Amino acid sequence: MGKKVTVVGAGFYGSTTAQRLAEYDVFDEVVLTDIVEGKPEGLALDMNQSRSIEGFETTVVGTTTDNEGNGYEPTANSDIVIITAGLPRKPGMSRMDLLEVNAKIVRGVTENLVAKSPNAVIIVVSNPLDEMTALAQLASDFPKNRVLGQAGMLDTARFTNFVAEELDVPVGSVKTLTLGSHGDTMVPVPSQSAVDGKPLADLLPAERIEELVTRTRKGGAEIVALLKTGSAYYAPSAAAARMAKAVAEDSGAVMPVCAWVDGQYGIDGVYLGVNARVGAEGVTEVVETPLTDTELANLKEAAEAVRAKQADVAGL
Ligand code: NAI
Ligand code: 2OP
Repeated sequence: MGKKVTVVGAGFYGSTTAQRLAEYDVFDEVVLTDIVEGKPEGLALDMNQSRSIEGFETTVVGTTTDNEGNGYEPTANSDIVIITAGLPRKPGMSRMDLLEVNAKIVRGVTENLVAKSPNAVIIVVSNPLDEMTALAQLASDFPKNRVLGQAGMLDTARFTNFVAEELDVPVGSVKTLTLGSHGDTMVPVPSQSAVDGKPLADLLPAERIEELVTRTRKGGAEIVALLKTGSAYYAPSAAAARMAKAVAEDSGAVMPVCAWVDGQYGIDGVYLGVNARVGAEGVTEVVETPLTDTELANLKEAAEAVRAKQADVAGL
């Protein structure tokens, strides 16, 4: 039987994710939800009407939900749920400014979702990402491998794009990696970055690499400042959709995601951005990557920063 995926939140991130998932044509059904009455139904109708043009058979179902759990019936028995519900940043805001308001939303939708889809893999998108991922695990009481967050694929894709533009090379020739938090303690990893297999350090001066690292860390804020209302969604939705596809196809692809780390890199018990193998059960393995001493120290610093905040969300 084909797979079913639910996308919670039909804003910019959720609607573009639903569209990408439908256009893959690997799911039976994509369910899109929102609390804004009629919006998910309207978007679903619109996406279904694109099927004969784009050539996909996946059906998109829209459903308006509320905080009491009404409207969740169409989400039942989803294999994957992607949580995008919540407020995005405004210019000048940090992701952390969204903590309290989004915690309420993420807790509520998680409880309502898992009541209907007890075997799903949960992919969290809402910000602040590392904390909301930890919260979704607590609220669902799912095994930690079945709850993961999207950030590292996006941050890595930004780093890759900046390197490709800087060196004027095809984006496909560039490999980069970004670990750590989806925030101030993000850890772009130049030592694992290369163009056609040539280390980045051989192609760019150290100061220029550092500038690209800084631009990557601030990649989300750069777009928020330009858009003025809302945050990025094309690259973010591409990342979440690819993660869902890896789960649906049980591909075992290794990708940077926010996953439960317990022992790897000498880090205990925390949700953190790392390379992980992703399949039908969510994260099947955290894959340790060789890091320089500085990169490892930065990753450990990120772990401690998010650990403190993840402890706070338990009470929200
Ligand atoms: P948006 O404002 O366009 O959409 C959010 C949607 O969530 C709205 O339609 C709203 O009605 C809905 N919503 C609120 N409460 C809900 C509930 N209880 N159930 C269902 N839907 C509910 O915002 P956008 O751009 O879609 O961003 C969504 C979230 O994703 C934000 O928290 C943003 O910060 C985050 N984000 C995360 C990224 C990442 O890399 N992890 C990247 C980009 C955005
Ligand atoms: C981003 O990185 C705001 O988290 C969002 O674009």
